[in-house]
Amino acid sequence: MFELSGQTNTASKADRYRELASELEALLGGERDFIANASNTASFLLYGLPELNWAGFYLMRGGELVLGPFQGKPACVRIPVGRGVCGTAVSKRMSIVVPDVHAFPGHIACDSASNSELVTPLVRDGQILGVLDLDSPQLNRFDDEDKLGCEVLTQILLRRSDPF
Ligand code: SME
Repeated sequence: MFELSGQTNTASKADRYRELASELEALLGGERDFIANASNTASFLLYGLPELNWAGFYLMRGGELVLGPFQGKPACVRIPVGRGVCGTAVSKRMSIVVPDVHAFPGHIACDSASNSELVTPLVRDGQILGVLDLDSPQLNRFDDEDKLGCEVLTQILLRRSDPF
């Protein structure tokens, strides 16, 4: 069975993301199914990154975001493009770091424990296929290193999986 390395080491955040990238390559190495790989990636992130209460995916279906594989409490199912943090990341075609979700206009609250959020679009050949969404109970949990790290991890997921 795949073993995650511990979260509590003294490596820098950039080093930790490099370590996570090579672990994710190994975790996804034997499978090409996107849903299976996204499911394992959600678990890998929830247990591999500190201070998260939700990690998962919303996938573009018929022009809106629909809940995909995730780990955490049940979440809202459909998010229109342009709505909430997830829909805004799609309309702006960029990752969004929200230090305090209560200060983000239009934030969609799924778990009242969430206080900060990072959303990264899944982009293949210039097309947005969905988003990775990470929530934290800690204010200001995510920074530019998390953003860059998650952009690299989502590219690994897409490269290691067949189109869906
Ligand atoms: N907060 C998100 C909705 C999804 S949940 O966090 C799982 C948003 O505003 O888009």
